[in-house]
Amino acid sequence: MLSLLVYLWRNYIRTKMRGLKIGNLAIAVPIVQGGMGVGISLSGLASAVANEGGVGVISSAGLGLLYKNLSANFLEASILGLKEEIRKAREKTLGVIGVNVMVAMTNFADMIRTSIAEKVDLIIAGAGLPLDLPSFLKKGSTTKLVPIVSSSRATKIICEKWKTNYDYLPDAVIVEGPKAGGHLGFKEEQISDSEYALEKLVPEIVKELKPFEEKYHQSIPLIAAGGIYTGEDINNIMKLGAAGVQMGTIFVTSHECDASEAFKQSYIDAEEKDIEIIKSPVGMPGRAIFSNFIAKVRDGKKQPVKCPFKCIKTCDISKSPYCIIVALINAFKGNFENGYAFAGSNAFRATKISSVKEIFQSLLREYKESKGK
Ligand SMILES: Cc1cc2nc3c(=O)[nH]c(=O)nc-3n(C[C@H](O)[C@H](O)[C@H](O)COP(=O)(O)O)c2cc1C
Repeated sequence: MLSLLVYLWRNYIRTKMRGLKIGNLAIAVPIVQGGMGVGISLSGLASAVANEGGVGVISSAGLGLLYKNLSANFLEASILGLKEEIRKAREKTLGVIGVNVMVAMTNFADMIRTSIAEKVDLIIAGAGLPLDLPSFLKKGSTTKLVPIVSSSRATKIICEKWKTNYDYLPDAVIVEGPKAGGHLGFKEEQISDSEYALEKLVPEIVKELKPFEEKYHQSIPLIAAGGIYTGEDINNIMKLGAAGVQMGTIFVTSHECDASEAFKQSYIDAEEKDIEIIKSPVGMPGRAIFSNFIAKVRDGKKQPVKCPFKCIKTCDISKSPYCIIVALINAFKGNFENGYAFAGSNAFRATKISSVKEIFQSLLREYKESKGK
């Protein structure tokens, strides 16, 4: 206990940022790197972030395609691929490593079971309400469970259901606002409505969590995500009650990001007008950088011939204009004639590729400067 306090204090002195505690996990810098599929955040990016004192997160989406060399069976290749990525991350860092799993994926249970068996530090689950997530924990499991929500209502439902059905409360909660990249938990008309802004959601959800924290004597830190790009943004959102932040877009333009150089370059080349809301076949809106592929879909020029992987529960191939997993794999490789890059609303602000260390240094400097303002 004493050594934990000394550790947190030393890091506080170094960063002047309050560390984040998730259960007994001590996170020196309260920055969680958002899980980014397909293939954008794997062991390379996750371990680099963990080495800087943040939480590195491996995306489990589409690993069956990235690891098709390990098995011709998509589901089996996904499990083997996830094990491989966790192993590689562990080789590169002693820091905190999480896995992002989307509820909407048909292999949700496989990815959760594998993450727990491999003893990852935490599981972050979104794109749907992970109502049965605690049921996967085994006696003696140490993996922490962190749901992603986009409203105080969803927060309450998860806390109540988990407590009633499993006598478990979330170890932390991530609220993802409408400026995030990838799939968004909002209706299209809510995305630009200030009622749904992250700055509005954070205090509401802190308030929603309070009675659970008080009644069950357990702290449930709230982590804010979506549109946080600078140290000043971190300071501002923490002032509203967030205990930490989750950031995705800023880490795409890092050397360690696992995407192709062309994917990273698409962020640097993008202008603000290129960042668009698209209708994803998953049935949710998404934010992405405009590409020729998006234009072809809008013109009705795309039709999937078959559904190769049945990867998403809500995807109906007879109505989908394309296979999203194939489109995202193509983008990961830099092929924007047949895919598109998901991106947060700030993606156009990237001007160069930096190391994760440099990104952390800038964020900490900006945070300190904004504190002094
Ligand atoms: C390229 C990209 C892919 C993403 N993929 C996922 C994903 O697979 N699962 C998920 O829960 N969130 C995903 N996200 C959301 C991020 O994890 C993160 O919460 C969000 O982007 C935070 O907002 P920011 O990008 O403005 O920092 C993705 C975001 C981006 C930019």
